[in-house]
Amino acid sequence: MLRDRRILLIISGGIAAYKSLDLIRRLRERGAAVRCIMTVAAKHFVTPLSVASLSEDKVYDDLWSLTDESEIGHIRLSREADLVLAAPASADLIARMAAGLADDLATTALLASDKPILIAPTMNLMMWAHPATQSNLATLDARGVMRVGPGSGDLACGEVGSGRMAEPLEIVAAIEQVLTGAKRLVGRRALVTSGPTREPIDPVRYISNHSSGKQGHAIAAALATLGAETVLVSGPTQEPTPAGVKLVAVETAAEMLAACEAALPVDVAVMAAAVADWRIETAALHKLKKDGGRPPVLRLAENPDILSRIAQRSNDRPTLVIGFAAETNEVVENARIKLGRKHCDWILANDVSLGTGTFGGDRNTIHLVEAAGVEDWPVMTKREVAARLADRIAGSLGYPPLHPP
Ligand code: PMT
Repeated sequence: MLRDRRILLIISGGIAAYKSLDLIRRLRERGAAVRCIMTVAAKHFVTPLSVASLSEDKVYDDLWSLTDESEIGHIRLSREADLVLAAPASADLIARMAAGLADDLATTALLASDKPILIAPTMNLMMWAHPATQSNLATLDARGVMRVGPGSGDLACGEVGSGRMAEPLEIVAAIEQVLTGAKRLVGRRALVTSGPTREPIDPVRYISNHSSGKQGHAIAAALATLGAETVLVSGPTQEPTPAGVKLVAVETAAEMLAACEAALPVDVAVMAAAVADWRIETAALHKLKKDGGRPPVLRLAENPDILSRIAQRSNDRPTLVIGFAAETNEVVENARIKLGRKHCDWILANDVSLGTGTFGGDRNTIHLVEAAGVEDWPVMTKREVAARLADRIAGSLGYPPLHPP
């Protein structure tokens, strides 16, 4: 049920806009208040009169309307909603969202929103598959914008493939899921580590690894989407900082440890970073030179184990400490050993052998190891792994009390 929930529906230009009329009816039947913004293109497909009649509210379409601005204003339009839904979300709207444009009322309301945003994309299959669209979607995903559909089938353009807008009832179900389950971690604090560390050899060289930060960043995004106040301590990566996440950028393992300790207390810590096990005992102050002699000998010293330290804090140990295990053989068995040795509650074991693409790729295959047993997850995108993990964390922590003592 969506009784008393307020949905801001943004209708952009696409033949699927006709489905938005049914969508409004379905939402109203469930007790939701629906306020609509139409883009200029949307009005080529459905009339503002139909939209206003079904939503029983006026239609907003003009960023420059003095009357509208004085009555409600574009900021309040998005802030007063519980959820902002773009359906249909055209390739153009998605591109403008990804670029952060605010050149009409729809994009301005989206940019000004501090609420969950759900999009129902629809477009021709070639437009959907185009690298520009996929890159825009990846940008929105990384910012925590949620998506329902598209499905595949006959498209209005006569072609068959991906690009059909999700059906109204699917969209309603997605909204119900977001509004009733999405904020299960409100009031909780989370710490996530991500990316590689860099251990200097001299001012221009370092020891590091191939971690891209995709997995760790996705986990931070998923926890923030569920409402957790999330601190992401990350080594150098190209990944955008997820929406609503506080990033602490570090380079070395020592800096990562200090940043993690500074982030405590937290309810859950997820250590996805690929921390260098060793550093150079004494990094050279000046660039090492090839001076015709023998190559330098680099003496290594062991880095602190951040996961283990956090898991053994006496006063402020997080309720749930979760590590990863990057293994190339005996994946589950080695992870089980790490679980005990590092004193954490769960270990997410993944195979990082050459050819798996786990380091740097978009997919991962997880074995969740805990004292009670092992759960084998199917191969998933790293974002799906993150969503599943966040859901499990929320289930394990339970709901926070509404009125903390
Ligand atoms: O970043 P991506 O390209 O998306 O790749 C994701 C990943 C492969 C890096 C990720 O899924 C992963 O496996 N992260 C852990 C990598 C790792 O260092 O694993 P490990 O088995 O060496 O370490 C076990 C655990 O101890 C990890 O949680 C690690 O963060 C932690 N650790 C390790 C060493 C150290 N000095 N301090 C630590 O906290």
